[in-house]
Amino acid sequence: MIKKKLRVNTKQKSYDILIGNNLINNAGNFLQNHIKNQRVFIITNKTIHKLYYASLEKSLTKKNIKTYKIIIGDGENQKNIKTINSICSTLLNYKINRDDTLIAFGGGVIGDIVGFTASITLRGVNFIQIPTTLLAQVDSSVGGKTGINTKEGKNLIGTFFQPNLVLADVSLLRSLSHREFLAGYAEVIKYSLIMDKSFFNWLVKNKRRVSKQEVSYIIEIVFRSCKNKAKIVNKDENEKNIRALLNFGHTFGHAIESLNNYKKSVIHGEAVSIGILMAIELSLLEGKIKKVVEEKVKAHFHQMKLKSSIPKKLKSKISVPKFINAMQSDKKVKDNTLNLILLNEVGNAKIVNNFSTSNLRKVIKKHIE
Ligand code: NAD
Ligand code: GLY
Repeated sequence: MIKKKLRVNTKQKSYDILIGNNLINNAGNFLQNHIKNQRVFIITNKTIHKLYYASLEKSLTKKNIKTYKIIIGDGENQKNIKTINSICSTLLNYKINRDDTLIAFGGGVIGDIVGFTASITLRGVNFIQIPTTLLAQVDSSVGGKTGINTKEGKNLIGTFFQPNLVLADVSLLRSLSHREFLAGYAEVIKYSLIMDKSFFNWLVKNKRRVSKQEVSYIIEIVFRSCKNKAKIVNKDENEKNIRALLNFGHTFGHAIESLNNYKKSVIHGEAVSIGILMAIELSLLEGKIKKVVEEKVKAHFHQMKLKSSIPKKLKSKISVPKFINAMQSDKKVKDNTLNLILLNEVGNAKIVNNFSTSNLRKVIKKHIE
């Protein structure tokens, strides 16, 4: 049943986010009005295919929607131009037309790949997000950022291309490992820290139920996260200004991921989690927040058992200049100046470029020692 519904209103498209439990078996009902010609291409990976593809296909077939499947490998390393080339080529061989719809059925990796493919195939075809990780339900399926990685950095090639619908079924999260759950939770905390103090207090108050993944609590965190994200995306779809706030902790996090060659020893949400802590430490050194704020946030990270340190093996390969160099590949670098998101208070963050490099070095040094 749909428990919560949100509307995203961007210049490019307006669309719904439908949130509920056990939706997949009725996906055909929810999707049918968003599909133009009864033909969809479901793009997924082998893990999700095994778990949920049959249910999705059955529910679409019940509504006379013809399905084609494209299965790719699992992992961040699939986000490359070779994968895009291969999917485009399969779609063109199927004679895809502009009334067809792509379905991104998976986590953030699948969502970013499918969104990018949808934006360039025939100069743009419809696509629907059915996110299957917490991270994808609270963040990557909403707002239209698509992209792939290159050796120069993460998500540096991509487009802004909004989906036509997001269907977030929290029952799909039951098969997710706790590690992946926590990786998604880092993005949830992000919203509370940058813009929603009452959400942060709610998360702290309900930490046990959230940690146990009680359904109504997960629905609430998906809803409140998407509501916050939609608020920002509606105002600044193409990240000209305030959307950058959503990258809180990410410049540090992306540096960690790229220095680790996107290996699974640090997954995206874990890098974000460490990155948020680094941003908070820098906020403290810069005198923007009081020690008590840092302690409050760190206590919650600790209680939830979020990733807070770079693995030893990786630390030994990093130096401060290497880390700063990796941070410089960020899209927020303008005129050679690094722009970082720092905290002023729980629920209030700002884009800052006049921080002290010596403080930045101190924070990095602490994390790589
Ligand atoms: P992911 O897509 O790699 O999924 C994590 C793992 O969980 C994978 O092995 C996947 O196969 C598995 N999985 C997915 N759903 C499952 C389920 N229901 N049950 C069991 N296993 C399941 O990773 P992610 O954390 O979802 O996404 C990370 C990616 O998202 C990164 O590439 C990041 O850059 C991107 N991202 C994009 C945006 C955006 O706005 N576009 C925002 C945040 C992150
Ligand atoms: N995840 C950051 C953004 O969507 O802008």
